[in-house]
Amino acid sequence: MAIVRVLDENRTLREKEEIADYLASIGIAYERWDLPKGVADDASSEEILAIYREQIETLKQRGGYVTADVIDVTPETPNLEAMLAKFSREHWHDEDEVRFIIRGRGLFHIHPRQGALTAIEVEAGDLIRVPRGTWHWFDLCGDRTIRAIRLFQDQSGWTPHYTDSGIDHNYQPVCLGPSYLPARTKIRS
Ligand SMILES: [Fe+2]
Repeated sequence: MAIVRVLDENRTLREKEEIADYLASIGIAYERWDLPKGVADDASSEEILAIYREQIETLKQRGGYVTADVIDVTPETPNLEAMLAKFSREHWHDEDEVRFIIRGRGLFHIHPRQGALTAIEVEAGDLIRVPRGTWHWFDLCGDRTIRAIRLFQDQSGWTPHYTDSGIDHNYQPVCLGPSYLPARTKIRS
């Protein structure tokens, strides 16, 4: 379950209905979807897309999305910090940002035109849609791990446009939830 913090009001939401209702009020769609059991930790992107074919088709039909891919980030991802830096400054896109999280955690900050600045910490099973034009930024949690299915209307529309407001400097990317520790890491350590 996501953890939502309404930052300037010092409010934290942890219940599904409460989260979905509140996020809808600032234009963000949020749902919980079941994750299939028994998906290998090292499943390839192709395997993931095949396993989630039904869910992806449902989303495509709903939102007019035409393509899907899998983003897979770990601390070993090359140029990770440079990649993260592209999205950790306030920006917006010409198309929706749709993410279905299947592993790890991440932190969206949403800056509504009207309403309070809101942090949404997403985890596996969370489906989030940040509509085109929404001011937002994104960070990973401390474990630097996320795997998510992304849907696109047109990949070229997904280029970030920066607001250069600097507001993102005022909010630390602090995650509250448990870190995801894959079994392999535990055995190694
Ligand atoms: Fe974005």
